[in-house]
Amino acid sequence: MSKRTRIKDILSATPGQDHTVMGWVRTFRNNQFIALNDGSCLANLQIVVDFENEDPTLLKRITTGAAIKIDGELIASQGKGQTVELTAKNIEILGDCDPEVYPLQPKRHSLEFLREIAHLRFRTNTFSAIFRVRHTLAYAIHKFFNDRNFVYLHSPIITGSDAEGAGEMFQVTTLDLNNIPRTDEGDIHFKKDFFGKATNLTVSGQLEAELAALALCDVYTFGPTFRAENSNTTRHLAEFWMIEPEVAFNDLNDNMDLAEDMLKYLIQYVLDHCQEDLLFLEQRLVEEEKQKPQQDRSEMSLIEKLKFCLAHPFERLTYTEAIEILKNSTPNKKGKFQYPIEKWGADLQSEHERYLVEKHFKKPVILTNYPKEIKAFYMRLDEGEKTVRAMDVLFPGIGEIIGGSQREERYDVLLRRMEEMHIPAEEMSWFLDTRRFGTVPHAGFGLGFERLVLFVTGMTNIRDVIPFPRFPGNAEF
Ligand code: 4AD
Ligand code: MG
Repeated sequence: MSKRTRIKDILSATPGQDHTVMGWVRTFRNNQFIALNDGSCLANLQIVVDFENEDPTLLKRITTGAAIKIDGELIASQGKGQTVELTAKNIEILGDCDPEVYPLQPKRHSLEFLREIAHLRFRTNTFSAIFRVRHTLAYAIHKFFNDRNFVYLHSPIITGSDAEGAGEMFQVTTLDLNNIPRTDEGDIHFKKDFFGKATNLTVSGQLEAELAALALCDVYTFGPTFRAENSNTTRHLAEFWMIEPEVAFNDLNDNMDLAEDMLKYLIQYVLDHCQEDLLFLEQRLVEEEKQKPQQDRSEMSLIEKLKFCLAHPFERLTYTEAIEILKNSTPNKKGKFQYPIEKWGADLQSEHERYLVEKHFKKPVILTNYPKEIKAFYMRLDEGEKTVRAMDVLFPGIGEIIGGSQREERYDVLLRRMEEMHIPAEEMSWFLDTRRFGTVPHAGFGLGFERLVLFVTGMTNIRDVIPFPRFPGNAEF
C-alpha cells in the first residue's frame, strides 16, 4: 500500500504538502467533513470533501466505522477545533461498515455494553486512550529497570509449583478428561500426563526470579500470571500481568525504596508522555462522577491525584501500628466495617486498606511486618517469630497495588516454615538449594500491572484496562 502518514504526525505537520492517510470514520457531517481516526492519537483528523464533485454512491459509503484511504493536501484549517485539515483529492473505501448493524454509534455507550463488544471497543476514545497509556506504562517499566541494570527474566508460564502456596491454580493437562488414567491406588496417574507430573499455570514468577537473583543480583519478570480464585470484584482478574523485581543483598527497607521509586517513576513517565490521553480520561472521570452523590466524588482530579502521589513520601508503618489505628477508627467503633477489627492478627480487607489510605493518611501507604499466619511461607521471619518482613503498598481507590517481602534466606528456618505451612519441600529442593549454596539476604515484590493501569487511567473496573479480561464465567475472545 502507499505510504501513510499517521494522524498523530500529520496534526503537527506544516501545511502545504500532500499526504495519504488511512483510518476509520468516526463521523461524517453534512456530506462534507469526515472525522478520521487511526488510533495513533486521541484526536481525529478533519477531512474536507468536495461533495459537489464526488460520486454520490461513494459518499454514501462513508459511514461511521468504515475504513478509508484519502490522498489530499494538508491546509491550515478555517474552522474551529483544529489547526490543520486535509482537503481530499482522492477517496478510496477500504472496508465498508453497514451503519444499520454496526454496534458503535457516535454516541456515549456504557462501559458494561462496551465490555460485551470488547473486540470493537478499541475504536472508542476511552479504550484507545487506555491502551495507549497501558503500552506507555509497559515500556516505562522496561526502561526503569534497564536504566538500573536489571536483567529481564522470562519466568515459565507452565510450572509444577504453587509459588504462593494458596492452591488457587489452573491445572494444565493433556489427559483425556473422559478417560482419566488411574494408579492402582485410584489416584490420577500424572506420570502419564504430558510432563509426567501434575502442572499448572503460574501464579507468580517469584520463585524462579529468586533463583536468578542469587546469581545476577538484580532481575525482574514481567509476564502473565493466573489465579483460579473465585473473586468477582472490580480489582481481580483470573489472568493478570505482574512485574516482579527480585534483588540480592536487599532488605525490606531497600525493597520499599525500590517500590516507591518505581511507582513514582512510572507515574511521572505517563504524565510526561500521555498528556492528551490523560486529559481525556480526566474529563471522562468528571462525567462519570457526576452520576455519584457529592460526598462520593473524588476531591482531586485525575492529574492532581497523580501529581499528589509524586509530591509526598509514602507513609510507612507496621501492621501492628495499622491495627491500632483501625481499632480506634470511627467506622470500626460505629460498626461500619463489614469485617470489624477486633484484635491483632486479623487479615486486612480492602475496606481497611482503603480507610488507611483514603481517610486516615490520605496518601499511599506501605504496611510492613504482618503476622506470619496471614502471609506466604517464603517471607523472612522477624525476631520473636510472630511477624514476617512483608510489605504491601496500598493506593487510593485501589487498595493493594504491590505485595512483597524480604525473603527467608536461612535454610533451616525456611524448611521449618514450609513444613508448618504444608508446602511440599521434597518437590521444591531446587528452591531450597539457593539457601544451601551461597545464600544471601534478598527481597522483591510483585506489582499488579492492571491495578497500576487502573490507578493511572482513573478507571474503576479492572476489566476495562486489560484488552480481553478473564474472570469467573468469562473467557470470551
Ligand atoms: O500479593 P501477591 O499475591 O504477591 C505475589 O504474587 C508475590 N509472589 C509477589 C512477589 O513478592 N514477587 O500479588 C502481587 C500483586 C498484588 O499486590 C496485586 O496488585 C496483584 O499482584 N494481584 C492481582 N491483580 C489482579 N487480579 C488478581 N487476582 C490479583 N492478585 C494479585
Ligand atoms: Mg498480596
